[in-house]
Amino acid sequence: MDKILVRGGRPLKGTIPISGAKNATLPILAASLLTTGHVHLSNVPHLRDVTTMLELLGQHGSAITIDEKLGVEIDNARVNNFTAPYDLVATMRASILVMGPLLARYGQTDISLPGGCAIGSRPVNLHIQGLRAMGADIELGGGYIRARAKRLVGTRFTFDPVTVTGTENLLMAATLAKGQTILENAAREPEVVDLAQCLIAMGAKIQGAGTSTIVIDGVDSLQGCHHAIIPDRIETATFMVAAVLTQGDVLLTNACASTLYAPIDKLKDMGAIIDELDNQSIRVRSNGNIRAIDLETSPFPGFPTDLQAQMLVLISLSQGTGIVTETVFENRFMHVSELQRMGADIRIRGNTAHVRGCSKLIGAPVMATDLRASASLVLAGLAAEGETLISRVYHIDRGYERIEEKLRALDADIQRVSG
Ligand code: EPZ
Repeated sequence: MDKILVRGGRPLKGTIPISGAKNATLPILAASLLTTGHVHLSNVPHLRDVTTMLELLGQHGSAITIDEKLGVEIDNARVNNFTAPYDLVATMRASILVMGPLLARYGQTDISLPGGCAIGSRPVNLHIQGLRAMGADIELGGGYIRARAKRLVGTRFTFDPVTVTGTENLLMAATLAKGQTILENAAREPEVVDLAQCLIAMGAKIQGAGTSTIVIDGVDSLQGCHHAIIPDRIETATFMVAAVLTQGDVLLTNACASTLYAPIDKLKDMGAIIDELDNQSIRVRSNGNIRAIDLETSPFPGFPTDLQAQMLVLISLSQGTGIVTETVFENRFMHVSELQRMGADIRIRGNTAHVRGCSKLIGAPVMATDLRASASLVLAGLAAEGETLISRVYHIDRGYERIEEKLRALDADIQRVSG
């Protein structure tokens, strides 16, 4: 099993290119099942989760061509298998995103019920309730969701709570339903908007993506399209935190500042110097004087839960004390015990972390537990004194493309070691 070895204390300096967004790529790959036309995607990130979704599409019968320069082309003319098996769904919960498209295009799908994961129970009840509201006949048994529908019918459905992939599943299903669908309290994440843009390019009739109310008028069929995946805002903000943590000076290219106002505002409150040079580049600097802040995660446009672990590291090295409240997932402080082993002064009470800033962290052997927690351990290692050896880095490869190569290009002392 690979590990990542980091020797801390070096300011990050230089330019880093941001990759395409994982959480836009996954629903958009699933959306390709809605058409037998060719879907051509550019700016697709090289990530484990993307590979897993491509494997799943391959099992459905998709013909996939991958070209380093030209991107990914998907031909679903010969899709003939509508099952998402346990072994694939168990490695990636986002496999649930094929449910809406398969049901809408082929009227059937058997999907392994995604279990919970490190950060929470992660139910999919709203995905199921929404599709039932559109006329699907859905039974649960033997660990599988068995869904059938002659033709889905448009309806009005309200999400509670807001769910990103729940919104995406119903948005995709509604594009081929009979009549109009209105999704209330829909997720507003930029990745939902990117999915909607791709669906519109395929001929879908969608209004309101990015707001809490999305209106979809079903059509009889969708065509292929070309689509460029938006930049990954979580990767971008992760590297912004790394630049501030190490008192560096980093230019992030192929980035999209307009999807990052909440993290940018919080980092500026802490004393970071952030310049949006154009709508594709962000320069991040810090002189080392970082003030503690309070933080509460919430659905977009609030502060993203996927950045909570990274910010906790920064607050741990700030002047003062900060309170971090996680409102989206019930168990997303798994990284805290590892950070405490590096000297962080953090106390957890329920869904709140009380952080007292300390002057330094000390490198140690640590273990990753989930994708964003593993990123926070890399950040901690970059700022810590001495060596940090991070195990179970397969978590990090799910969502960060070549993280150690990108950080080494910024003069970080970081390498992947096997065994
Ligand atoms: C998406 O997960 C992201 N994954 C997550 O990113 C992200 O953390 C999360 O949204 C929140 O922003 C992808 O887009 C592939 P939710 P998702 O449904 O859609 C409850 C990462 O690190 N809920 O928005 O699964 C749920 O329990 C990953 O890249 C229900 O109750 O999250 C949670 O409390 C981690 N019933 C809340 O909604 C449902 O049917 C938000 O979850 C669905 C969700």
